[in-house]
Amino acid sequence: MSTIIPAVKKRADYRQPDFLIDHVDLEFTLIETTTKVICISKVTRNGSHNKPLILDGEGIQLSSVCINGTEAADYQQTDTSLTIDIDTDTFELRIESIINPKDNSSLEGLYLQAGAYCTQCEAEGFRKITYFLDRPDVLATYDVKIIADKVNFPFLLSNGNKVDSGDLSDGKHWIKWSDPFKKPCYLFALVAGDFDLLEDKFVTQSGRTIALELFVDKGMLGRGQHALDSLKKAMKWDETEFGLEYDLDIYMIVAVDFFNMGAMENKGLNVFNSKFVLADAQTATDEDYFNIEAVIAHEYFHNWTGNRVTCRDWFQLSLKEGLTVFRDQQFSADMSSPIVNRIQNVKVIRERQFAEDASAMSHPIRPDEVIEMNNFYTVTVYDKGSEVIRMLFTLLSKTGFLAGIKLYFKRFDGQAVTCDDFVQAMEDANDKDLSQFRRWYSQSGTPQIVVTDTYDAISKIYRIAFEQKHIATFEQKEKQNLVIPIQFSLLNDKLESLNLGDTDQQQLTLELNETQQCLEFYNVESKPIPSLLHGFSAPVKVDYPYTQQQLGNVMLGSPDEFARWDAGQQLFSNCIHNLAGKTELQQTTSIAETIAMFEPIIESKDISLALKAEILTLPSFETLFQQLDTVNIDALNQSRKQLFKALAQTFQANWLSHYSAFEKQPYAYQSQQVEQRKMQNLALKYLTLSAQPDVEQLLTQQFNNADNMTDSLGVLGAAQLGDLDLFERLMLAFEQKWHADPLVLDKWFALHANTDRSDILARISILMGHSRFTINNPNRVRALIGTFCFFNVAGFHNIDGTGYKFVADYLIKLNEVNPQIAARIITPLIQWQKVDKTRQQLMQLQLMRIGDTKGLSKDLFEKISKSLP
Ligand code: TRP
Ligand code: ZN
Repeated sequence: MSTIIPAVKKRADYRQPDFLIDHVDLEFTLIETTTKVICISKVTRNGSHNKPLILDGEGIQLSSVCINGTEAADYQQTDTSLTIDIDTDTFELRIESIINPKDNSSLEGLYLQAGAYCTQCEAEGFRKITYFLDRPDVLATYDVKIIADKVNFPFLLSNGNKVDSGDLSDGKHWIKWSDPFKKPCYLFALVAGDFDLLEDKFVTQSGRTIALELFVDKGMLGRGQHALDSLKKAMKWDETEFGLEYDLDIYMIVAVDFFNMGAMENKGLNVFNSKFVLADAQTATDEDYFNIEAVIAHEYFHNWTGNRVTCRDWFQLSLKEGLTVFRDQQFSADMSSPIVNRIQNVKVIRERQFAEDASAMSHPIRPDEVIEMNNFYTVTVYDKGSEVIRMLFTLLSKTGFLAGIKLYFKRFDGQAVTCDDFVQAMEDANDKDLSQFRRWYSQSGTPQIVVTDTYDAISKIYRIAFEQKHIATFEQKEKQNLVIPIQFSLLNDKLESLNLGDTDQQQLTLELNETQQCLEFYNVESKPIPSLLHGFSAPVKVDYPYTQQQLGNVMLGSPDEFARWDAGQQLFSNCIHNLAGKTELQQTTSIAETIAMFEPIIESKDISLALKAEILTLPSFETLFQQLDTVNIDALNQSRKQLFKALAQTFQANWLSHYSAFEKQPYAYQSQQVEQRKMQNLALKYLTLSAQPDVEQLLTQQFNNADNMTDSLGVLGAAQLGDLDLFERLMLAFEQKWHADPLVLDKWFALHANTDRSDILARISILMGHSRFTINNPNRVRALIGTFCFFNVAGFHNIDGTGYKFVADYLIKLNEVNPQIAARIITPLIQWQKVDKTRQQLMQLQLMRIGDTKGLSKDLFEKISKSLP
């Protein structure tokens, strides 16, 4: 690889900062390519030493450095730092510099896009704004003055409370903000632009009135209400569930089109990707409504878990993210269907987190080594991190968990702390030894639980043994035993749950902490079937030699809805994995037998529609992929399609009746309607795949009559799956209708990118030239290029290697524009470990090509260098 090797940072190397900054005065004069930034810091030496002050800074044109009002001469600059020799212990440091927001396409630091200035500082973006101690354990209060042209930038926003404002003679105006809460610089934010403003209020449990302000692009006011309603629900929920109240008098949210991730929790001034704010029936799907509520809540919950108590260093990221994801998942479960939520969470773990753990990017939820911090905003840190918190919740019970949270805030409010500090608070509040549990923070990889059982008909004793197995991951060979809560129950052959123990308890939680543990049950009349890992009580893989018949029983009889769904998924998975290599007759029989087991489900009236739809949905290709050690891509894809089609045909009559079972009501995002649409659109997919005679008519009808985006997309998805010519026609109509609406057009780009057709690359190339496509907008890039990489199995993994090459070519360009997004999209390309040798070589070849790029970013360097053998 052609680059200078970037430095690796290690968790073990943490040292307290040599200097502290406890107050900052910032002044911005916003000019497109020459924005002036004055940063005045109150600096104190931390401890007694005579080291120089070393500040971080990147791409900044330094104008002057003053100490206590006198211009300093004794400083040295590098590409990434400013070193100031100083022997005073307390001083005022004034740094004046120039930055260029207009040409900042990385969307990190201060950037100007679509007529608005916007900042993104987490993790290490503040150093692109001014020279500073850019680390989360330096906490300061901030006063910020923003000066800009009044006509183009009527709104000038920053953290905290607005304290003063005024006009200047040259058409400019200024506003001053003051944030009384100490914060690390990654939570600093500035936004300047012209927006529509949606206002509301929230009265807290203690009776304080909070002003809520939502800023959206001009003309988008009608799409802001759901986000605002979600915010109020989240504020209320955090009070009732966690006793946590908002602290400032104002809470602002700004929606922008150019944004690297979902949203950012800047103190008092959240910045959001407009995708997670804007919604109305015509343009947003039920899923969009759901995600908006979840992300709004996530960022709001950060105000306590992240902002009031923050991270000591970036290795501790899961301290705030794992905990906040857990909180937003609990919130979402309370707002809608707990089981459907849980299933969605588990899909993320199985499809993406297991994949990460099996790849060269595997890392514990608290990583030990990092080159580019942006590469560690991962499903492991976030979602597995949340699973680790959930296990604590299970092990300590809700009461014990909340006691731990209370102690955590009492001890650490206003501080920058570690994951260990969090676990310590949980331990102390519950008087429970969590020393072995702590290994979840340091150990990567997906544990495997091997379950075996025996039954003795004479003594009527049933024994069940649980063994934990850990395989080496890429970066960590040695593994230790973890504490793994396993919730389970036992079913007899009448599908009744056995009483376990002396009470009428039907579910047990085993705390597996040794290599193997065995449980014995007495007076068991016949060999029971275990129903394992209720609620996905740990982020592990379970291995028990179920027969298809036994899985069928768990699916029908388990007292745990998650276990029922999971058993159904295993039924499907087993069937799919065993198809290849069989004779046609064997295949037909095996498929028929599997499908027959779902008959009671499709007929059932005792489960919710939403759960029924989930059970009747095949495991995704990604989930199936993660179940195998080596994958024959073409065979797997083919087998999954085969079962899909058979399921469509066998139940054709049922699909039709499910499709027509509900009366259409005007759209509302309301759970009964959401469930019905989900079932209906699933049924529509199956009807299309089953080649139902008048299906084109059904599709056209639904497309023309739809009063909402969920139903419109339902048609497009079905027509695409059925490979109908109608798909092309409807796509054309869709584009004509929505060409001016970028968020809707993203759905259209994504559908195109996911189409299974031989000329897919030519198709994508044409779309890259679409007047609404731009490499500068991450949402567009994710929709078109990201969808292709992550989901278009046939296109991306084409055995001729053209899919890989196409992606590599694109990433070489994207590397220059936005390294953070490039490094996200490269993910499928570095996950070559399980595919066949031919594809492995083709993928590695492309990784090497990208690796040879001049000016390769740290982001891509880290992933490529790890993944090349
Ligand atoms: N802290 C943010 C969250 O979890 C995520 C985040 C990290 C982010 N870095 C970012 C968002 C860069 C946007 C851009 O909500
Ligand atoms: Zn977060």
